[in-house]
Amino acid sequence: MGQTQSENVRIAAGGGYDVRIGSGLLKETGALARRVLKADRVAVFTDSAVDSLYGETVEKSCRDVGFETCRFVFQEGEASKKAETVMDFVEFMSHHHLTRKDAVIALGGGVAGDMGGFAASVYLRGIDFIQDPTTLLAAVDSSVGGKTGVNISSGKNLAGTFWQPSLVLYDTGTFESLNDDLILDGTAEIIKTAAIRDAELFQLIQNGSVADILTQTVKRCVQIKGAVVDADEKESGLRRILNFGHTMAHAIEKASGYRISHGRAVACGMAMMTAASEAAGMSQKGTCRTLCRLLGEKGFDLNPRFPLTQLCSLAASDKKTFGDRIHLVYIEKIGSAAVFDMEIGQLEEFMKDGAAFMKNGAAE
Ligand SMILES: NC(=O)c1ccc[n+]([C@@H]2O[C@H](COP(=O)([O-])OP(=O)(O)OC[C@H]3O[C@@H](n4cnc5c(N)ncnc54)[C@H](O)[C@@H]3O)[C@@H](O)[C@H]2O)c1
Ligand SMILES: [Zn+2]
Repeated sequence: MGQTQSENVRIAAGGGYDVRIGSGLLKETGALARRVLKADRVAVFTDSAVDSLYGETVEKSCRDVGFETCRFVFQEGEASKKAETVMDFVEFMSHHHLTRKDAVIALGGGVAGDMGGFAASVYLRGIDFIQDPTTLLAAVDSSVGGKTGVNISSGKNLAGTFWQPSLVLYDTGTFESLNDDLILDGTAEIIKTAAIRDAELFQLIQNGSVADILTQTVKRCVQIKGAVVDADEKESGLRRILNFGHTMAHAIEKASGYRISHGRAVACGMAMMTAASEAAGMSQKGTCRTLCRLLGEKGFDLNPRFPLTQLCSLAASDKKTFGDRIHLVYIEKIGSAAVFDMEIGQLEEFMKDGAAFMKNGAAE
């Protein structure tokens, strides 16, 4: 069988791993896994919707190269992202006699990736895993960097590990089955990545649709995330810039009972933050307008829809707080981010100044 053309990005974190991006990669999962795994058995971990689209392709590709395989399917959706699902999968792997040298293949969006990685990191105190991301968000963000986890009653992703994959395969063909909402969610993280680190990518997205420049865009986002993660794997400094827009986004998601999707909330959070930082004289003049214009053109609603008092109090209970201070990320200009911290008590005033700035036409 001829090999699929693909782009490759090397990440140094963990033992070092490749992120491959190209059309048709899912059916090569087995052959490519063979090169990096010492496994006899692999357990494919996926959700019900992705399973019906791609589950058999991936499992067959593994069987074809001689792996013993098994497949665990959970109900699609964020509600499944909990410890019980991970532990059910851990039991399943044990039942199928996976040993220390065997591996997990996490197939799907961020939910499958985060839980599959978490399970791999705790089963027998850690086995290898491969990510086959199938959403745009997972391709540009969650599949790279090694953050795994589940939600607990007090919040999202509050239990987890750092566990790097052995390989990430993004089959660009999976983009075809995404609906508009899923594309928009990924687009928010792409714009975030460009806004914090790459003015050129920002311009590319201004000039065209993500679908037209998919491989190039994903590759660039993976390179950027990879470089940031390699410099600060455990998020004690630089990696925080990846949270641009996320403080307010998490508050919006929470306030909406998670009915507003992550990407939509991130878009709004980036706009709010940039309005506030520009109002405070921390961002170059016009940054907020440029960012908001692009977000608006891509279809994001930048109205937070909840009172600032409520959002700031939710932000205060976020895990990114330390003591009575909170880390915040802002962009000085498109392509350049910085981190600062402030007393939690000052956050509302800071954001209110931003809201007033926005009202006075900053985003037009
Ligand atoms: N680990 C990290 O660094 C990191 C970063 C960002 C987000 N996340 C996590 O990622 C999750 C969100 O990821 P997501 O949006 O991919 O969620 P998801 O995995 O739930 O996928 C969203 C929906 O898309 C469906 N789907 C997946 N691929 C498809 C395809 N190719 N065609 C059609 N439907 C498809 C899924 O079945 C699901 O219903 C959140 O839990 C978030 O916390 C993690
Ligand atoms: Zn995000």
